[in-house]
Amino acid sequence: SAAEKGGYDYFMLKEIAEQPKAVADTLLGRIDGSGSLSLDEVRIPAGVLREIDKVVIVACGTAFHAGMIAKYAIEHWTRLPCEVELASEFRYRDPILDAQTLVIAISQSGETMDTLMALRHAREQGSKVLAICNTNGSTIPRESDAVLYTHAGPEVAVASTKAFLTQLVACYLVALYLGQVRGTKWGDEIRAVIRDLSSISGAVEQVLGTMEPVRELARTLASKNTVLFLGRHVGYPVALEGALKLKELAYMHAEGFAAGELKHGPIALIEEDLPVVVVVPSPRGRSVLHDKIVSNIQEIRARGARTIVIAEEGDEAVVPYADHLIRVPVTPTLLQPLVATVPLQVFACELATARGNEVDQPRNLAKSVTVE
Ligand code: G6P
Repeated sequence: SAAEKGGYDYFMLKEIAEQPKAVADTLLGRIDGSGSLSLDEVRIPAGVLREIDKVVIVACGTAFHAGMIAKYAIEHWTRLPCEVELASEFRYRDPILDAQTLVIAISQSGETMDTLMALRHAREQGSKVLAICNTNGSTIPRESDAVLYTHAGPEVAVASTKAFLTQLVACYLVALYLGQVRGTKWGDEIRAVIRDLSSISGAVEQVLGTMEPVRELARTLASKNTVLFLGRHVGYPVALEGALKLKELAYMHAEGFAAGELKHGPIALIEEDLPVVVVVPSPRGRSVLHDKIVSNIQEIRARGARTIVIAEEGDEAVVPYADHLIRVPVTPTLLQPLVATVPLQVFACELATARGNEVDQPRNLAKSVTVE
């Protein structure tokens, strides 16, 4: 009913709007007065976590993209090697797992069969499994050694939005917690990131307030067949997520690429007026990547692409090459997906509406896939 949708036309719109609260709720009570993490729920003893020598993340769909982003954070903040694998592929390739492996299973529903089978396999090999889950008491957390719940609240729309943002928050918390417990040399950086995370909900709110031009743009693209997405570093999984949303909702051919791979194939796809969404890393910090992606934007535009550029406020270098410019607030590099994903959700939702598709219940898809 309309009341259930909180006055929005679709659950998806309501859930997109709920993201600042979902993000804040997922942080609530997990940072103590001294600015350190207190994750008592992660019932794996600190002694065991200190012995871990590898992290393996398993998940499906949107949760898999959260896992891809987590890899960058975990490796950077803990120096532990981290692999991310599609849960459906995991157990069939005889992965190397032992008691020193921490397996993180990410699932909104907690009922995805592929993810459940992957974690069962990991536990059989003696690995510890930590679930990141949005559904209290569901099967995946029940069968794991520990769980860190995301506090997105119920997500009804099939295409995941607020659950994804909270999965990212939970992944950052786990990464920082591992760093804290293991006493990595990044101690000061960890404290600084915890401070940045505390203000990220406001940044998400800010993005939501600037989405009207994104909706307008989406409506003008309703008759297109293909949209490409490019990103680098943590912007690469964001590009994949933008493409997935477009497939799920708009039933359009959409593909995400790592921008550095452009020259190895995808650039052959560029043709006159093809919409290409580019997620641009911050010009601060890893500025080499920023400059490389600006060159990519120039290259595809020279070949006729219609460039839709998502860039940080104050990034002036992209302006001459952006046919459409979508601004996101300044955030630390690793946290940018929390703001950069939001315009892509709005974009896909509006395109779906413009194409007359059912936003909350896309054809052929289920919210939770409980078969292998
Ligand atoms: C289905 C849904 C996706 C979701 C995936 C994983 O395919 O349609 O939106 O990302 O399952 O679901 P989970 O509940 O495990 O996060």
